[in-house]
Amino acid sequence: MSVMENDTFAIQNMSDSSSEIKNTALENDFTPSKLGTKDYWDEAYQRELQTFKDIGDVGEIWFGEESMDRVIRWIETQNLSDDISILDIGTGNGIFLVELAKQGFKNLTGIDYSSASVELAKGVLREEGFTEVNIEEMDFLNPPSDLTSFDMCIDKGTFDAISLNPADGQQGKAQYVASLRRFLRPQGLFIITSCNWTKEQLLQIFSPGFELAKELPTPRFQFGGVTGNSVTVLVFKYQA
Ligand SMILES: C[S@@+](CC[C@H](N)C(=O)[O-])C[C@H]1O[C@@H](n2cnc3c(N)ncnc32)[C@H](O)[C@@H]1O
Repeated sequence: MSVMENDTFAIQNMSDSSSEIKNTALENDFTPSKLGTKDYWDEAYQRELQTFKDIGDVGEIWFGEESMDRVIRWIETQNLSDDISILDIGTGNGIFLVELAKQGFKNLTGIDYSSASVELAKGVLREEGFTEVNIEEMDFLNPPSDLTSFDMCIDKGTFDAISLNPADGQQGKAQYVASLRRFLRPQGLFIITSCNWTKEQLLQIFSPGFELAKELPTPRFQFGGVTGNSVTVLVFKYQA
């Protein structure tokens, strides 16, 4: 995927976020976008997969490497057992899983509804020598009935994409929360990196049931006299 397209995503959401700082009402949802459609991601990852096959480039790191490092650094401080089960929701190129595997985590799963993303993530993990990481093609909003629950779920940009769905962004958000309740074990952790939603909005969307455990500091910007964050990273604990 080109930097241009990622910028479009970020710019659209960053410009929206200045008004959200003043008004966090959830009715002020984002303009629906093709970035909320499966067709968009299928096409994007088919291109990225081809590039990976051609020149070995893993493709876009959504919101930059720092956004991933920030979460990894926080996880490191928690002294978690290396066999906790971690699910990467909408794994894309699987690079977050590569970083977690490098930290020694052994029980890793990534899901994505784009088959090209799944092939790309498998290829990237294989290339890095982490063949034991489980990658599955799955729609997070329509999970199978027999799924096992995880100790931790991470999301970078997937909830954002789902909430941009032109057909049913509102419904998608509600379904996302319902799925998360199924995927996460009680007291499990959910770490979300979002450029669409402010801290206040995320607290509202994931309440009740998900209690804020930590907000990770992110760069701040000023726009029209209002200060806000370009990216929000929150850690929630699931109080089932
Ligand atoms: C902005 S990209 C982020 C990818 C990855 N998390 C990263 O940080 O590089 C959004 C991802 O969510 C996936 N996605 C969107 N809706 C999904 C759904 N309902 N179920 C599973 N994956 C989904 C897309 O295919 C895409 O890989």
